[in-house]
Amino acid sequence: MEIFLDTANIDEIKKGVDWGIVDGVTTNPTLVSKEQALFEERIKEICDVVQGPVSAEVVSTKYEGMVEEAQKLAKLSEHVVVKIPLIPDGIKAIRTLSRKGIKTNATLVFSPLQALLAAKAGASYVSPFIGRMDDIGNTGMTIVEEIMDIFINYGYDTKVIVASVRHPQHVLEAALIGADVVTMPFGVLEKMFKHPMTDIGLENFLKDWEKYQEYLKNKD
Ligand code: E4P
Repeated sequence: MEIFLDTANIDEIKKGVDWGIVDGVTTNPTLVSKEQALFEERIKEICDVVQGPVSAEVVSTKYEGMVEEAQKLAKLSEHVVVKIPLIPDGIKAIRTLSRKGIKTNATLVFSPLQALLAAKAGASYVSPFIGRMDDIGNTGMTIVEEIMDIFINYGYDTKVIVASVRHPQHVLEAALIGADVVTMPFGVLEKMFKHPMTDIGLENFLKDWEKYQEYLKNKD
């Protein structure tokens, strides 16, 4: 399973990449606006650090504008994947961009049928927002399973990015069903390391090691 960080914060990305377990990054207009950095510069910076797929979203809602923005974004780095919202103009833009060899990530996906449209149009990735589905009383992960079934049925090579992840349990469920990618906030990645038994076990090992050193010093 590939792990992406869902952030535009460069320090978080550097930390995750330094751990050697981050394969890519997803951003969105909200995440970028929080950083108060220049959008295109930040995307380039992220690409340099992660050296893997980096999703950068268009803000136009019309076909022509989306294609124009996407072409500009794609020029920033070979790692850029252009995020396009799942609306009719977006699907049309995905089709055009895929013919031009520009990678796309269909975003704001809330149903398996939307994902089917994105795959048919040639999207490289689809991003079902599972946390936001959970928020309105649905089970977001069900949609991921359905999307994966559809893609297997028809042999689409569009990858599924489990997005809008809120806690490690989402990551576990995505891994158990074999999702291609999970994109998560840095805080969720940090939580994945944590287990109280690991901390207690390490503390005890180190205490015993200290006692053993004392024994060796005083032995003769
Ligand atoms: C995905 O690509 C989106 O950036 C993100 O996962 C949205 O998550 P949110 O629902 O926490 O805003």
